[in-house]
Amino acid sequence: MTDLPKLSFQKLAEPKKGIAILLAGEGPLFGPIGQALDDASSGAISRAAKAAAFQGKAKSFLDILAPAGLDLDRILIAGVGDAGALKDLDWHLLGGAVAGKLANGGAAATVVLELADGGSPGADAAALFAAGAKLSSYRFDRYKKKKKEDDEQKKKPPQRIVIATEGHSAARKAYTALDAVTDGTLLARDLVNEPANVLGPDDFAKRAKALDKLGVEVKVLGEKEMQKLKMNALLAVGQGSERESRFVVMRWNGLGKSSKKDPVVFVGKGVVFDTGGISIKPAAGMEDMKGDMGGAACVTGLMHALAARKARVNAVGVIGLVENMPDGKAQRPGDIVTSMSGQTVEVINTDAEGRLVLADALTYVQQKFKPAFIVDLATLTGAIIVALGNEYAGMFSNDDTLASQLSAAGEATGEKVWRMPLAKEYDKLIDSRFADMKNVGGRWGGAITAAQFLQRYIEDVPWAHLDVAGTAMGSPQTDVNKSWASGFGVRLLDRLVADNYEG
Ligand code: BES
Ligand code: MN
Ligand code: ZN
Repeated sequence: MTDLPKLSFQKLAEPKKGIAILLAGEGPLFGPIGQALDDASSGAISRAAKAAAFQGKAKSFLDILAPAGLDLDRILIAGVGDAGALKDLDWHLLGGAVAGKLANGGAAATVVLELADGGSPGADAAALFAAGAKLSSYRFDRYKKKKKEDDEQKKKPPQRIVIATEGHSAARKAYTALDAVTDGTLLARDLVNEPANVLGPDDFAKRAKALDKLGVEVKVLGEKEMQKLKMNALLAVGQGSERESRFVVMRWNGLGKSSKKDPVVFVGKGVVFDTGGISIKPAAGMEDMKGDMGGAACVTGLMHALAARKARVNAVGVIGLVENMPDGKAQRPGDIVTSMSGQTVEVINTDAEGRLVLADALTYVQQKFKPAFIVDLATLTGAIIVALGNEYAGMFSNDDTLASQLSAAGEATGEKVWRMPLAKEYDKLIDSRFADMKNVGGRWGGAITAAQFLQRYIEDVPWAHLDVAGTAMGSPQTDVNKSWASGFGVRLLDRLVADNYEG
């Protein structure tokens, strides 16, 4: 990971050194501290604002050299508009935007979280602001060996960002829990950004195994064990690869070992590289398929988050790790595999491999656990990108309560999901001439028929499938994400748990 700024909290007070960040509203620009700085510089700050026609509008910035009379180096003024209308998510995004403006920023910066009335936003907002600053500072530059000479790479946010805010102890406390979620998101980004030569199924499994340091129980199954369990659908996808498949089960027992409470269960697609197999993909853009384990990365990052913040929940995270390669041993179109559930699948297209991996993983979690719900995440279809672009993940669910909890968590965190339909008319499209089902459903509604395929493996349990092909990677750069891999889903699912399933 990159050098990330160290975030800390202190009481609301006038900054004396380095860069000062002030908030400005649309009424009077500043609160008492901003006003005092302006006075100490004989009104130079407000003159600069006037000259630049800066009016404190939301998302507007004014960046000035600190005027004479102040010991500061630089003053960055962030417009917040009508501060009372800002939601927690807005503070999160503002933290990211501010850190972005601080690139090239010297040693230390102090953010004065002061509104025009002299008060600060609440503790959660202040903590979210800080988390946004950390998330937006992430760069995956491990392989940029010449970075020191490269000017672009010198543009780094400051090493330290101090948040000066009213109620700083409460903000610090909220931040500690939140930082676990941030680190989970960054872990997911790292996994997705990492190239497939470095991160094969076993390498990924080892990174998941490292969560045992946080108290997560991690079990890694190899191919022999999977054969015993009859995970033939998952194994078929990996059989063309030189690298053995892995299956990882992560358990966080936040309610204690003796707790009998049904666990919440998360399942992730972990195709470390998807060539398409014998139904090989075109060359253009194939490099992006190193990110075809975005679902598994999210589940791993989420388990990190839950354990690191000691969430009061029993949670299970399961990931199927395979590489989809063309080879003399690879599966062929027309092959029929018997999945762990006993259902047979005619493999029409070896590039529709994710659903085969998930099929056995979904069967496994229902046989081994009694899930309170199952959420699976997968970079499953190009079709979901055609439907929703890169802004919303596709959500398919058999349960209205779970679906609305997910929608609400999406709106709260900015990791948004859009519900898509499931219906028997679509299900018919994957009936096969030779087996119980086929793994593709024809030209139209590809994200839906993929979800219908998964639903054939779901028994009587609340379930949601998130197709994150458009959001886990190559998604739009936001104020809190400047990376190709977004870490999508960690904040969303942490929030789902925190708001509905903890305690
Ligand atoms: N991993 C891909 C889906 C994907 C596409 C993820 C673009 C991220 C970006 C998946 O395994 C796949 O190849 N799906 C096929 C399914 C088709 C063969 C029915 C697709 O979407 O074209
Ligand atoms: Mn594929
Ligand atoms: Zn794939």
